[in-house]
Amino acid sequence: MSSGDAPERAAKQAVDEYVESGMVVGLGTGFAASHAVRRLGELLAGGELRDVRGIPTSARTADLAEEVGIPLVTLAEARPVLTIDGADEIGPGLALIKGRGGALLREKIVAHAGQNGLIVVAGESKLVDALGEGTLPVEVEPFGWEATLDALVSLARNARLRTEAPNRPFVTDGGHYTVDCLFDEIPDPEALGARMKCIPGVIETGLFLGLVRAAVVGRADGVETFTVKEQF
Ligand code: A5P
Repeated sequence: MSSGDAPERAAKQAVDEYVESGMVVGLGTGFAASHAVRRLGELLAGGELRDVRGIPTSARTADLAEEVGIPLVTLAEARPVLTIDGADEIGPGLALIKGRGGALLREKIVAHAGQNGLIVVAGESKLVDALGEGTLPVEVEPFGWEATLDALVSLARNARLRTEAPNRPFVTDGGHYTVDCLFDEIPDPEALGARMKCIPGVIETGLFLGLVRAAVVGRADGVETFTVKEQF
C-alpha cells in the first residue's frame, strides 16, 4: 500500500462501514470526500446500497454526485443521518480545521444538521498535535471585507484575502470571500472561534469543534478509526 492512496482507502472504508440503505448522507468537498462520493455511487450502481440520497456541500460535489448517480436532496427536504467529509487538520479531541478547499460554510451547515455527526476521512498526514500548523480559513462577507480583515489580523500572526488571480478574490458558492489566517498555534480553538465570530463580517470559521463522530484515517499500512474516546 502507498501513502498516496491513503485518503481514498479511508473514504472507501468509511462509506462501507457507516452508510446504510435508506440513509440521507451529507456529501463533503475535496479530494478525500470525492472518493467517498464515488464509492457511494459504486455501491448504489451495484445494488449493494439502495435508496441513499445525498446533500452536497458544494456545487462541485453536486456535479460529481450527479455524475455517479446519487440522488440529491436539500436541507429543505431532509436532514442527513451523517456526513462524510475530509479535513485539513485533525487535532486533539477530533477538532478540525476545514475550508482550504473553499466550502467551509456549507460543509459546517450540513455537518451540524446531521443527527449522527461528521465522519472525517483523510490520510494520516492530516493528524496534528495542535491545530494551527497551517492556515485557518474564515468565510467573510464581501462588503467591508477590508475592515473584517483588519480585525482578523489583530487575532492572528498573519491573515490575507484568498485570491484566484492577482486582484481577483476567490468567491465561495455562497458568494462570500475567504480570509486565510496563520497562527503560531491555536491552543484554545473554542476561545479563538468565539472571538472570531464576534467580528462583524465574519460569517463562519473553519474550526469544526464537537462535530466529529469518528475520524477514519488512512495510513501506509492500513486504515485506523478514531472516536473522541480513542484519540490518536
Ligand atoms: C473543503 O472546503 C475542505 O474543508 C476540505 O474538506 C478539506 O480541505 C480536505 O480536503 P482534501 O481531502 O482535498 O485534502
